[in-house]
Formats: sequence, C-alpha cells, structure tokens
Amino acid sequence: MKKRIFSGAQPTGQLHIGNYLGALKNWVALQDEYESFYCIVNLHAITLPQDPKVLRQKTLDLARIYLAAGIDPEKSTVFIQSDVPEHAELAWILSCIARMGELERMTQFKDKGKGNSERAGVGLFSYPVLMASDILLYQTDLVPIGKDQKQHLELTRDLAERFNRDFGETFRIPEPFIPPVGANILSLQEPAKKMSKSDENANGSIFLLDDADTITKKIKRAVTDSGTDIRFDQSRPAINNLLTIFQLLTGKSAADCESHFEGKGYGHFKAELAETIVEFLRPFQEKIKEYDEIELDKILKTGAQKARSIASETLNTVYEKMGIN
Ligand code: AMP
Ligand code: TRP
Repeated sequence: MKKRIFSGAQPTGQLHIGNYLGALKNWVALQDEYESFYCIVNLHAITLPQDPKVLRQKTLDLARIYLAAGIDPEKSTVFIQSDVPEHAELAWILSCIARMGELERMTQFKDKGKGNSERAGVGLFSYPVLMASDILLYQTDLVPIGKDQKQHLELTRDLAERFNRDFGETFRIPEPFIPPVGANILSLQEPAKKMSKSDENANGSIFLLDDADTITKKIKRAVTDSGTDIRFDQSRPAINNLLTIFQLLTGKSAADCESHFEGKGYGHFKAELAETIVEFLRPFQEKIKEYDEIELDKILKTGAQKARSIASETLNTVYEKMGIN
C-alpha cells in the first residue's frame, strides 16, 4: 500500500512563487510515490472576511493552478474542502480536545490577529484545529508544507496523540515534509519577512500569474544587501533569497549557481533571474487557460467523492470511540 499525503492552500489573494517553491512543487514531485490528496481549503479562507463572489471564483482558480502546476487528477485526488463536510465535523470534535493555551501559542494567530484577541475571530483562533482535521481524516503519513506551517503540524500531531491516548488508537501520526531549500522564500522588498499573499506591497512577491514586464520590474526593484558578489551567504538574506529562487527554478546545485555568476554583478544576475522566472512561468500560465469549467467541475466532484469515502470512515470510527453513535 502506498503511503498517503495530504496538503492544501487557501483560495485567497494570489499564489506566489514562495507557495510554489515551498509547497506545490513538492506536491507534484511526490504524487507518483504517494497516494495524494490536495485540497482547496475554502473553509480556512473565511477565517478572515472574504467577498463571496470573489471567494467562489478564487476557489476554482486555485484548482486550475494546482492542475497547471502539474498535479495530475488521474494520480492525485483534488477537491474543495467544503465539498467534504466531515472536515468541519471532525474540527468540532478536535476543538473539544484542543486547549486554549496551545492555540494561543500559534504564531500565525498572533500575526493575523494582530495581537488583538478581543477583536480577532474565533475561527481565526481555531484555524489550526480545522487544519488538524483535514490531515487526520485521511490517516495521512506525510504533509508537504512550507516552514510557516510547521507549528500547525506539531499541534496536529499533539491532538492525534491525545485522542489516541484517551480513546484508543484511531489516528495515524503525520510527519511534515519541509523542503531543505525553498521552505521560506522571503519578500523581495523586506527580506526579513516571508513572501506573503497578504503583504500589502505587491512588489514583495512574484505572483504565478504576473506577466513578463511585471516580473522584470519586480526583480529589478528587489532590495539587495551590502557586498557585490553573487553567492549564498546566510548573513545576506536578500541575495541568498534571490539565488535560492534561481537555484530551485534551474535545478542547478548551489555551487553551480555561484560559479555561473562568478565575476558578474547584480545587473547581470537580476536580468538572468528575471528571464528564468518568466520562462518558467510561461508554460504554466498557458496551461491555466486549458481547463474549462465543466471539466474542472468533473475533476473536483470526482475528487470530493473519493475523499469523502475515506473521510467518512475515519469520522465514523471517531464517533464510535467517543460514544456519539
Ligand atoms: P497558503 O496559500 O497560505 O495556504 O499556503 C500554501 C502553502 O505555501 C503552505 O504549505 C505554506 O507553508 C507555503 N508557503 C507560503 N508562503 C511561503 C513562502 N514564503 N515560502 C515557502 N513556502 C510558503
Ligand atoms: N494552513 C495552511 C496554510 O495557510 C493551509 C492548510 C489548511 C493546510 N489545511 C491544511 C496545509 C492541511 C497542509 C495540510 O498554508
């Protein structure tokens, strides 16, 4: 039996190259070896206010992005979270197991709630419990994510262990898969922060749907650190970040990247990096247009059916163990 993967992204904002390099790229690479479930987590999206029309559109757009990035619906199960009601049901159960203290420690809540827990939504607070539910419903072995989600995965493991201890062996304990390179792509404008969908400054991110002109401008404007040579250097986060993007898109080794740019300046490097990104995104952007709504709908409905058959089995076991039915 193949081991199982679960991962997901929120249909909010615009997907950027950090999402791709930190997560999506690995989803695609792992789908042959694992039985994979890739979810569009629209219930997570509403933890912050969303325009209903835009949310519906973005949910389908994200499905297109998954497919264009190389997720093959013949191999992987692609579905929308709200099409499988078991996610919300198990989240309730797990919220009765989770503790306020452990959720209060989640750094994403502190960031997104802007430190104002009086005003922050309860959903934003319990967001990681819904994420745990997503993962545990599928008896998942591996969860490919960027570094920002590591803490949520640790919570997921804690909740699973607690449930197993109190009610008997029920959930498989998932492992994170965080890529050694690319798990934390930084903002092009503020390399002390991660590249983020919710960044107000669009120049900090390369979006997967940016056109060639925009990409070239953003790379040109990307901040640099002191020093002129183009090499990996942890103490120079800006160049380190740009080189990491180059390395992952070209598949070269770190040493090859450095020797490739030896004796060259920032101008040369930035021009080549911009071109590499543009060329990489071109076929991807072409493919996005390929899926019409009917085809997409079929893929998502089939995915939801398959997902539901597994999720409902886990949820039934959970209810049984708890004396709910
Ligand atoms: P989201 O769109 O926020 O749901 O994130 C989808 C996936 O992208 C998650 O696995 C994140 O950990 C990953 N991710 C988000 N931002 C970055 C980043 N700047 N660098 C690497 N991975 C990221
Ligand atoms: N919380 C994740 C993010 O913001 C998205 C997510 C929801 C997820 N459920 C998941 C990721 C389950 C992996 C597994 O990026």
